[in-house]
Amino acid sequence: MPVNNYKLTDLDKLVSLSKRRGIIFPSSEIYGGLASVWDYGPIGVEIKRNIKDLWWKSFVSEREDILGFDASILMHPNVWQASGHLDSFSDPLVECSETGKRYREDNIFIAEKEDKGKKQLFSIEANDIEEAKNLVNDKSTEIKNLKDYKEKNLPSPEGGILSEPRMFNLMFKTFMGPLENENATVYLRPETAQAMFVNFINVFNSSRKKIPFGIAQQGKSFRNEITPSNFTFRTREFEQMEMEWFCKPGEDENWHKYWINFSMEWFKQYGIRKENLRLRNHDKTELPHYSKASSDIEYNFPWSWGELETISNRTDYDLKAHAKLSGKDLTYFDQSTNERYTPFVIEPSMGADRSVLAYLCDAYCEEQLENETRTLLKLHPKIAPITVAILPLSKNEKLSSLSKKVYDILKSKYNTQYDDTQSIGRRYRRQDEIGTPICVTIDFESVENDNAVTIRNRDTMEQMRVNIDRIVEGIEDSITEMQ
Ligand code: GAP
Repeated sequence: MPVNNYKLTDLDKLVSLSKRRGIIFPSSEIYGGLASVWDYGPIGVEIKRNIKDLWWKSFVSEREDILGFDASILMHPNVWQASGHLDSFSDPLVECSETGKRYREDNIFIAEKEDKGKKQLFSIEANDIEEAKNLVNDKSTEIKNLKDYKEKNLPSPEGGILSEPRMFNLMFKTFMGPLENENATVYLRPETAQAMFVNFINVFNSSRKKIPFGIAQQGKSFRNEITPSNFTFRTREFEQMEMEWFCKPGEDENWHKYWINFSMEWFKQYGIRKENLRLRNHDKTELPHYSKASSDIEYNFPWSWGELETISNRTDYDLKAHAKLSGKDLTYFDQSTNERYTPFVIEPSMGADRSVLAYLCDAYCEEQLENETRTLLKLHPKIAPITVAILPLSKNEKLSSLSKKVYDILKSKYNTQYDDTQSIGRRYRRQDEIGTPICVTIDFESVENDNAVTIRNRDTMEQMRVNIDRIVEGIEDSITEMQ
C-alpha cells in the first residue's frame, strides 16, 4: 500500500492540480462556469472509472448473490409519491432579509460574544459545528446550531436578519412531452435506489434468486442542494453506487453490521488511510424518513469530517409503500419456511464523486527534495489513471522505434501513456502529479548495448534496469510493492 505521511489541509491545492493536469475542470468554464458543476478531464475520467469498476467488481461481479442493474433517470411520478420524496425530501431553509440569500438551517451556527459587558450574537455558515468552531477561532466562544436557538430575528452571515425556516423540496422537476403543466411533471431521480425497489419483482422472477440477495447499480442522481460546497463534495448532479440487499425481517440487524464492515474494508483495501476514516451512527433525529438505523462512513477531508457512504436499514418501508400505491404484490414466498413476507432492505449507498475526492485527498502528497518540492498522487495502482508511462529520453528515431515496441508490448496489459515531449525531469514531474506508479525510460544504452530499460517507482523514485524480455515481470514486481 502506498505510504503517505502528508495530510492535505488546503483543498485549493488539489483544485488547482486537478485543473492543471486534466483531472477535474469547472463546467462550461469559457462562459464563467456553472456554480458547483464539474467535469472530469482525461485523467479524472480514468480515476473515476477505475473506482466505479472496483466497486462493481466487489459488489457485483465477484458475488453470486448480487445482480447488476441500470435504470432510467426519469421514472413515473408515483414512484416519488410512494417513496415519500415528494412529501419528505426537503431541507429547512432560512433567508437573509438584506440579500435574499438562502441557507440550510443546519448550516447556520450562532456564536455569542461578550462586548463591553453586552452579549453580541453573530452567525457563521459552516458544514458542521467543528468547522464553525474552527472558523470562529476562539475556543471560549459558545456556538450553537440555529435550530437549537429559541430567539427570533437572528443575524444572517450577510448582515441582515434571518427569516423563519421554510421547507424546500430538493428534487429537480422537468416536463415530459410538449406540454408544460402539472400532468406532464416528472422528476430527475434524487437517488438510484427506487428503481431497484420498483423492479424487485422483475429481477426476482427473471433470476430466481433466493433471499438474501442484492441488486446494485451505479448512476447519476440530482438534488437541488441549497448550499453545494467544497469542490465535488456536494453538487447538484452526482453519481451514486448503491446496492439494495433484500433479507428476511429479523435478520436485518446482522446484515446491517455485515455491510458496514464490508464497506469500511472496501475503502481501506484501495489505500484510504484508516486514521482518515470513521463510522458515525445517525441519532434518531437525523435518520432519513425511510430508515430504522443509518451509519455513515466519514472521511477526514481538508475542511472537516464528511460523509462518504451511508449504510441504512430501510426496513420494508419502500416495498410496502410501492405495493400500496401500485396495488401490486411485492412480497416474497420463502419455500424453505413456507412463509410469505415483505423483505427488509439494507442499503450501502456510496457517492462515486465523493469517493474520487476522498481518494485524491488521501493520495495528495508534497515531498521536500534538495532543490524543489515534489507533488505527487500516491494513488493505489488499481486507481491510478495511467499505470505505465513510456518515456524515450529523446525523439531520436532509434529510441522512438524501440520505445514504440515497448509501448506495443504493454498497452494491452496496462493503461499506458507514451510521452516524448519536454525534458525527462518535467515528464517525471507530470507523471508523479497524476499518480502514475511506473515510468519506463528508454535511452541510448537500451538501443546500442543492453536491450534493457529503466523502471522508475513513483513513490521511492528508485530506478532499476530490466531487460525488455522481462519488462512485464519487472513492472509487476514494482506494482506489487505498492499495493
Ligand atoms: N439511497 C440513499 C441515499 O441516497 P444519501 O446519504 O442521501 O443516501 C448517499 O446519499 C451518498 O450519495 C452519500 O453518502 C454521498 O456519498 C452521495 N451524495 C449524496 N448527496 C450528494 C451530493 N449533493 N453531492 C455529491 N454526492 C452526494
